[in-house]
Amino acid sequence: MTITLRAPIQSALSPLPAPASPAMSAMAGAPGPLANTYKRASVPIVRGEGVTLIDADGKRYLDLASGIAVNALGYNDAGVNAAITTALESGLIHTSNLFRTEPGERLAAALVQHSFADRVFFCNSGAEANEGAFKFARKWARTVGSPAKHEIVSLRGAFHGRLFASVAATDRPAYRLPFRPLAGGITIAERDERELDAMLDAETVAAVIVEPIQGEGGVRIVDPALLAFLRRVTRERRIALIFDEIQCGLGRTGQLFAYEGTGVIPDIVTLAKPIAGGLPMGAILLSESVASALEPGEHGTTFGGGPFVASVALHVFERLSSPTILAHVREVGAFMGRTLHEMMARSAKVRAVRGAGFMWGVDVVEPAAAIAARARDAGVLILSAGDHTLRLLPPLVMSQDDVATALTRLEGVL
Ligand SMILES: Cc1ncc(COP(=O)(O)O)c(C=O)c1O
Repeated sequence: MTITLRAPIQSALSPLPAPASPAMSAMAGAPGPLANTYKRASVPIVRGEGVTLIDADGKRYLDLASGIAVNALGYNDAGVNAAITTALESGLIHTSNLFRTEPGERLAAALVQHSFADRVFFCNSGAEANEGAFKFARKWARTVGSPAKHEIVSLRGAFHGRLFASVAATDRPAYRLPFRPLAGGITIAERDERELDAMLDAETVAAVIVEPIQGEGGVRIVDPALLAFLRRVTRERRIALIFDEIQCGLGRTGQLFAYEGTGVIPDIVTLAKPIAGGLPMGAILLSESVASALEPGEHGTTFGGGPFVASVALHVFERLSSPTILAHVREVGAFMGRTLHEMMARSAKVRAVRGAGFMWGVDVVEPAAAIAARARDAGVLILSAGDHTLRLLPPLVMSQDDVATALTRLEGVL
């Protein structure tokens, strides 16, 4: 029998291509070998220093994007670099969760000490944290109700990730429609007390998931009165309240956890993005009540909370939980908000400004992607959140002077 390999398999077996030359800018514009899932800026980034990124042509950018809310401590941070070096000295990058290791347990203890939580589950990304949270909430709900108590409710404008359950809880048709059928038992509700009151049936609903500040959905602060309402009814009806703090948590609002600024204490919080200084990690914080429903073997992950990534995350968490950095975010964040409101007062092209701490959304008349491209040309990196909203997520260590410079450049391109 002869076996004919399909072309991609054949090419996968051929020798690896030579490493990319240092002049990666020669690749600019070429589609390259990566899957076509992102529109990437054409000139590659080759270096990071503090709050500045440098591309292959030597152009410098003030970074108001932080790798999408990940690089809270900026780039080439001496503390993070030292934590990486120290973590390597143990010789342990990975052991699997079949063994106890100190860094993960110390990190979990630190998260518990600083939050409402009693237990922590580590994973590798934000979507994975939310998928785990849904499973944990369902398992808990089965211990307090019947198997019918499994529905998960998310809110209009939500973004919770790209896997089958997290995307089912995400309110973006373009992310959902090509991949149907999505995971079942997940419904999106209006951010409206009356509708939620009717939907949150004690017999069938296991959990509600909310981003206290919706990030991808346009930097929308969920009304604290709605959060208080949700806390009251979820408690009465024995429904788990999950806060997705993957983007807005870990210092970004000027509080260590976003829930601290809402007056509401959830049952589960999901974290990821900045937690390990740019290494992939997610975490699920759990109240004892939810955690006690779990049995060994019911959920797992090969890499989650491994000793290398957890050592680095421990350092990052010590830094992000310091009162000094949180005060800096509150103070410079207030300056950012004032400056953006002043820009709005001066320009008819800015329609609205919303946010807190180092997380701001700016509604603009023009397409946000076009403004982000012009801002890049002017040496400032910003994100969009929807067609007409700019999203600003600077590293939490950015100085007021750098924020001022970046916003002046942004106003120039507006
Ligand atoms: C609020 C929120 N939840 C979940 C996710 C998904 O995280 P990840 O991309 O790490 O899967 C994101 C990512 O942007 C997010 O902002």
